[in-house]
Amino acid sequence: MTFTSDEFRQLMRRHPAAVTIIATGSAPHRTGLTATAVMSLSMDPSSIVCAVNRASFTYAKIVENKSFSVNTLAQQHVSLAKVFSGQTTLSGEDRFADEEWCILTTGAPVLKSAVISLDCELLQTIETGSHALIIGQVVAGRQSTDDPALIYVDGQWTGVEASASTT
Ligand SMILES: Cc1cc2nc3c(=O)[nH]c(=O)nc-3n(C[C@H](O)[C@H](O)[C@H](O)COP(=O)(O)O)c2cc1C
Repeated sequence: MTFTSDEFRQLMRRHPAAVTIIATGSAPHRTGLTATAVMSLSMDPSSIVCAVNRASFTYAKIVENKSFSVNTLAQQHVSLAKVFSGQTTLSGEDRFADEEWCILTTGAPVLKSAVISLDCELLQTIETGSHALIIGQVVAGRQSTDDPALIYVDGQWTGVEASASTT
């Protein structure tokens, strides 16, 4: 009996993940998407890896621009997460209209109100199946708030508890 992608999807729905926006490009040609497949990769060099759908507009632009930012969203960013995951009619530059963005080193858009932002130069892409791993060297970063990060689990938006009991 084979393990189906539907079974895989059902299991992964229960895997809680921090919600980010991966963004690239300069105004008025910025683009970005909501992503949970993001993790720290190495400390030397400081690097991260994200899984991005190869069919997405944002993936093509990251490859073209050779830079991107990863912005960890706070609990109050649910509507922004919906905009950047295509749950509205907005695409490309129009997704950036309602929030304040700045740039750090690479020129990729950085969300001013994100919990943390990482500014990355694209080191490598590894295409696998429908997605590609994009590996970025972190060349700058900032923290703007202590607010709890936004979490996505079981199709729901939620937050991180301030502390977990250890007893
Ligand atoms: C909670 C959540 C997490 C997501 N995580 C990812 C992800 O890690 N990688 C990815 O490529 N798409 C992910 N998506 C889907 C993209 O946000 C969506 O396809 C987006 O509209 C692509 O935009 P674009 O084609 O304009 O670049 C996620 C969507 C949601 C709602």
